[in-house]
Amino acid sequence: MAVVKANGYGHGAVPVARAAIRGGATWLAVATLEEARELTGLVHAERILVMGGLIPAQAPAAVAGGFSIGVSSFDLARALGDGDEVVPVHLKIDTGMGRFGAVPDEAASLARLIDESPGLRLAGTWTHFASAGTDEVMTRVQFDRFLETLAGLGVDPGLRHACNSAAALRYPEMALDAVRAGIALIGCEWPGTSPAMALRSVVTHVKTVAAGDTVGYGAIWAAPVRSRVATVAIGYADGVFRARANRGHVLVRGQQAPLIGAVSMDAITIDVTVVPGVEVGDVVTVIGSDGDARITAEDVAGWSGTISYEVLTAIGPRVKRRYSE
Ligand SMILES: Cc1ncc(COP(=O)(O)O)c(C=O)c1O
Repeated sequence: MAVVKANGYGHGAVPVARAAIRGGATWLAVATLEEARELTGLVHAERILVMGGLIPAQAPAAVAGGFSIGVSSFDLARALGDGDEVVPVHLKIDTGMGRFGAVPDEAASLARLIDESPGLRLAGTWTHFASAGTDEVMTRVQFDRFLETLAGLGVDPGLRHACNSAAALRYPEMALDAVRAGIALIGCEWPGTSPAMALRSVVTHVKTVAAGDTVGYGAIWAAPVRSRVATVAIGYADGVFRARANRGHVLVRGQQAPLIGAVSMDAITIDVTVVPGVEVGDVVTVIGSDGDARITAEDVAGWSGTISYEVLTAIGPRVKRRYSE
């Protein structure tokens, strides 16, 4: 099950979904109905799982799409089952994530309600791990809780799925009938894969500044010596977090150039004093490879105080996505 929510983690939902299907995915998963509609036609509608927390008022729209719907509550189940269509639902069980999902004690009665509703079909049962990448004990407790709850369900659970990428990588024995992989599909957080995305911009201005001159908002960088400073056409509106002020580097002409000063809405400034020949129009790599040098989304996340997921999903709409096979 390819998780392609949030515009395919910033890469474009449809291209990521198509690539995942070519690679063997037979289901797609998203957070919202709008995201599900964007995928219409790529797989049978029933094989698009809307995982997010829908509210009962959205039931008619959910039913109209023909998608599989994640259900955590009696209220949503009743609202979905109200019409003439038979809606495939995936009952979510909260085994410790504490976000969505019916608590295990309620799961059997919710499963029964779904099973007995003419307008609903229990097509799947699922849970989500809180710390699959970092906490084996908790993950095993959650998995055991999930299996116990399934054993007491009293009805056919349908397609059983629990693992995200981190769990699929570490605990293949927990794969059950499907895994829901998102970040791994795009070459992040999975050893041996290479990132699908490169994020690049261009130098739009180059200047020499004297020792002591400052650069950017708040004047938080001052040239320690006479320096060459290049301005690059990418800013926080495009997903370069303001936390990057004076942190980390980009690549230009195959070399590292430190990010200096504050991040502006539309621009960053970089120190190219030791990179010879930098000129307007030079390509700047924010994520990706340039010669032998490489920057990953995980590197950028480290400099930004966040995770690769946020780095990728924060890439703004004015950054043009271009695809190659
Ligand atoms: C419920 C659920 N399942 C699966 C995933 C996919 O996670 P990952 O991208 O870590 O594979 C997510 C992503 O946040 C999710 O919310």
